[in-house]
Amino acid sequence: MLSRAFHVVIVGAGMAGVSAATRLRELGFAGDVTLVSQEDEAPYDRPPLSKQFLLDGDADAILLQPEALAVQAPADIELIRGNPVVALDARSRELKLRDGRELHWDRLVLATGARPRALPALARLPHAQTLRTLEDARAIRQTLMPGTRLLIVGGGPIGLELAAMGVQFDARVTLVEAADRLMTRSAPALIAEHLRRHHEDSGVDIRLGRSVVAVRDDGHAVFDDGACVAADLIVVGIGVQANDELAVQAGIASDDGIFVDGFGRTTTPDVFAIGDVTRQRNPITGRFERIETWSNAQGQARAVAAYLADPDSAAPYADTPWFWSDQGELRLQAAGAIAGDEQAVRGDPDSGRFSLIQWRDGRVVGVAAVNAARDFQMLKRLVAAGSRLRPEVLVDPKADLKSLVAAAAVSSTPA
Ligand code: FAD
Ligand code: APR
Repeated sequence: MLSRAFHVVIVGAGMAGVSAATRLRELGFAGDVTLVSQEDEAPYDRPPLSKQFLLDGDADAILLQPEALAVQAPADIELIRGNPVVALDARSRELKLRDGRELHWDRLVLATGARPRALPALARLPHAQTLRTLEDARAIRQTLMPGTRLLIVGGGPIGLELAAMGVQFDARVTLVEAADRLMTRSAPALIAEHLRRHHEDSGVDIRLGRSVVAVRDDGHAVFDDGACVAADLIVVGIGVQANDELAVQAGIASDDGIFVDGFGRTTTPDVFAIGDVTRQRNPITGRFERIETWSNAQGQARAVAAYLADPDSAAPYADTPWFWSDQGELRLQAAGAIAGDEQAVRGDPDSGRFSLIQWRDGRVVGVAAVNAARDFQMLKRLVAAGSRLRPEVLVDPKADLKSLVAAAAVSSTPA
């Protein structure tokens, strides 16, 4: 492996930044690697913050590869914590940190992630917050207990995962979603309806098509239909926006997401971007999108590291986007597009285990599975292969998905 000794500075120590740094070392990259983190915490993984961490509060269990970040030898990764980058000069290749320190880089990787969108009606309320950081999760843990009146604004994965945790804590959970269904961004309508029924059956009071317009002095939230809900804790999960200010300020093309290609290259030479902060071509939809998933952060990071270590042997990242979401007893897994021109169900939704498959122009373009992990793994591969298998074949309970996947892989292998 080629190991040219230049200095790579990575801004942001989330899943994307940490993965890029550690992958560079795994590939034998011999130059300096510096990881700059805004947060004081040792780098950690975010998905457990709305899941297991709320139950056990075990911050050690969610650390990201601590062994790789321990500074033991010159070849290791330098980690600067609690000191955000506040300015970027792409021409002089300098970064400025909050404490005034300046850093020179030869290659820069922006991995600054995203932050929750704010709801102006709830700004500055002491009992309202978002859920993105370890600090946020700790604050929620402190308040969440039996009888807590928890109001969740937003019915995406954050809102629904938290609703399920609230139920586990015996809290009284109300969830308000502005759209007429849940999971508008990331799951098909039929799956959203299944989730709604599950959460309502668990005791969550779900109000669709509603939003919070004000919070009274007594803490009651007022909805746009005039209804009032008392809340001890309000958590807002209404989506995220890219932390792309450094890029914008440096003239790097971004539109709520830094534009990158499959190697993470931005419009400025030697400046790369990875993870939630990016906007990339979705291989399934063909559109430039932000793909806000854990697997994408890792996949892009590996592609950038490979490119930095040896551009000639690197392959561009073009994996089918996928994510999972644990909501109480339900594990949702979804890959590819959430809508097509045809869809079919494999399995029986009433049994609690099923998959919804999407086709567009005769090709399999998406799958969303509920408690059907094995089928999901196979169907995801058919999405990636752009399979032309027909609905009647894939919904047949006797269909052996494994051999169908093997056949699809053979037929999509170039001669
Ligand atoms: P981030 O994790 O946001 O990390 C970016 C880091 O950069 C942050 O630490 C930030 O403080 C830092 N930073 C920003 N600006 C600067 C600066 N100027 N200088 C220095 N540092 C800076 N995905 C799934 O697929 N499945 C799930 O079940 C799932 N659950 C989730 C649950 C929660 C509660 C959250 C918040 C996310 C979840 N995700 C899930 C999404 C997944 O965690 C993200 O896609 C992933 O964390 C993105 O990683 P990232 O490194 O790009 O960004
Ligand atoms: N009031 C109520 N609901 C709203 C409002 C509002 N003012 N504005 C938006 N919503 C709803 C949207 O209709 C959507 O269903 O909030 C939901 C937000 O869903 P997502 O965009 O999926 O965002 P969120 O659940 O906050 O997840 C944020 O965390 O799990 C990760 O990868 C995931 O990046 C994502 C992030």
